[in-house]
Amino acid sequence: MVGYDGASIAIFINLKEFTMTAADFWNKRYQTDEFLFGVEPNDFIRAVTPIPKPGAKAFAPADGEGRNGVFLAELGYQVTSVDVSQFAVDKAKALAETHNVTVDSHVGDVFAFPCPDDHYDLVIVCFMHFLPDDHVRFVDLLKGCLKPGGVLIMEGYTLEQLPLTSGGPKNPDMLWSAEAIASEFAEFDILLLQETRRFLAEGHRHQGQAATLQFLGRKPAA
Ligand SMILES: C[S@@+](CC[C@H](N)C(=O)[O-])C[C@H]1O[C@@H](n2cnc3c(N)ncnc32)[C@H](O)[C@@H]1O
Repeated sequence: MVGYDGASIAIFINLKEFTMTAADFWNKRYQTDEFLFGVEPNDFIRAVTPIPKPGAKAFAPADGEGRNGVFLAELGYQVTSVDVSQFAVDKAKALAETHNVTVDSHVGDVFAFPCPDDHYDLVIVCFMHFLPDDHVRFVDLLKGCLKPGGVLIMEGYTLEQLPLTSGGPKNPDMLWSAEAIASEFAEFDILLLQETRRFLAEGHRHQGQAATLQFLGRKPAA
């Protein structure tokens, strides 16, 4: 199987198995001067992110080359980000410098990141797809690190994306549905949850018609 965003990716060639870590996979992709997903923030995240109160903290797991983390920092959030690819984080740091903002960006596996409980006012997830077991762990992580009353914004691909060519994993087990996300975040105040058919224009990797899920929700107040 050739995976996409999983923790490890096994490739079978001539009956020999080579295991590639997520870091290897993504470093190989990011090893270019180009920003694969562009330097502009995801337009859904740009549209729905609340204006921060002074001192508000945001977390951007799997922030890639930093386009969304930089946007949040420009709005006034104190941003922490983590991505498994060193090459991506190097670009994210350069992007933050160009925009004259600070993002506390880290290289590493999101599951190994010391994420404090009840800490962030805002968490954003942009096209981060895991295999089912890791998806469950990721949902727990997102719920845990948000403050009570904190906001979660997510955009990811749905099953309808499978025949489309604007990005995303080709393993259906990694794709999202509104039904599953509604059940996983049942205790949240769900402000927006919709499956879309829309046009993506994010670098050369996300171009064209896409089938996405957009989520905006609030963790219940304590
Ligand atoms: C499709 S890209 C999206 C990047 C970014 N969110 C954006 O929209 O520009 C998926 C990202 O997930 C990162 N990633 C994959 N597995 C990860 C993991 N276990 N921990 C942290 N980052 C991971 C990859 O390095 C890659 O940057």
